[in-house]
Amino acid sequence: MNPPRHYLQFKDFSAPEYAYLFERVRRIKEKFKRYEPYHPLFDRSLVMIFEKASTRTRLSFEAGMQQLGGAAIYLNTRDSQLGRGEPVEDAAQVISRMTDIVMIRTFEQEIIERFAANSRVPVINGLTNEYHPCQILADIVTFIEHRGSIKGKTIAWIGDSNNMCNTWLQAAEVLGFNVHVSTPPGYEVEPERAGLYGTDNFEQFADPMDACRGADLVTTDVWTSMGFEAENEARMKAFADWQVDEEMMAVARPDALFMHCLPAHRGEEVSAGVIDGANSVVWDEAENRLHAQKALLEFLLLGRVDD
Ligand code: CP
Ligand code: NVA
Repeated sequence: MNPPRHYLQFKDFSAPEYAYLFERVRRIKEKFKRYEPYHPLFDRSLVMIFEKASTRTRLSFEAGMQQLGGAAIYLNTRDSQLGRGEPVEDAAQVISRMTDIVMIRTFEQEIIERFAANSRVPVINGLTNEYHPCQILADIVTFIEHRGSIKGKTIAWIGDSNNMCNTWLQAAEVLGFNVHVSTPPGYEVEPERAGLYGTDNFEQFADPMDACRGADLVTTDVWTSMGFEAENEARMKAFADWQVDEEMMAVARPDALFMHCLPAHRGEEVSAGVIDGANSVVWDEAENRLHAQKALLEFLLLGRVDD
């Protein structure tokens, strides 16, 4: 049996594979909008394992699998043996004998890697402390829908160098664009943790205004990610000057988009005027999780299809 393909971080796929996927997302979304039944995953099942909370990820995978003719099964740490110390390797052996594909949202990237190493079926990263590839896949689809190719463009990342930031940085290397990052001191990007090959595609800026200057897209995320709640008070103080507001958007390109993976905190990482403003595409971005992941599920289970 050949080892399955997994999607554990953005760089697991090549630029040509992304080009294929972006086109598939467009096609699958078109079918959905036309109410055209499309059930290539009839009889297949996805198991979704959540060790952290979720609205969008659960909903988009569950609805997406159903729309493709398959079924989705939800497991969480609280009421499965996963929370009672069953080794992740044993869980992977068992779960992957009963289902066709697995999505996991967990803490350290190492956990999902251990699971994948023991899985007979593809494993998808539904968010770890280090990466959130499904979200960036949807974000890039959204950028392309609004502005065309992302190649050569400049993305400003303002705030925490978290799982979202790391994944944008990997995407920049794979797809050939630039990321301007501005974080408070002490929260800078760690290239090794981000899994980067080099520093050609990103630049760090002390002043968030400088990072936003001329950007095609400005994006941010919560100041305190899941799993880091104990640091919340210190982070609120450290990040106070890193709120994406109208002043920052004013130095980006006039047609610059604003994105946020959600959930958002208006008045913390973003002002209400920006997230609810004319340049914000956050609802398209959220919707595209559904279409992007349907293309991802299809690709991992069926390979390239042509219809
Ligand atoms: N953006 C995102 O992953 O949202 P959830 O935490 O609601 O899944
Ligand atoms: N960085 C956030 C993203 C939530 C979707 C977190 O990890 O909590």
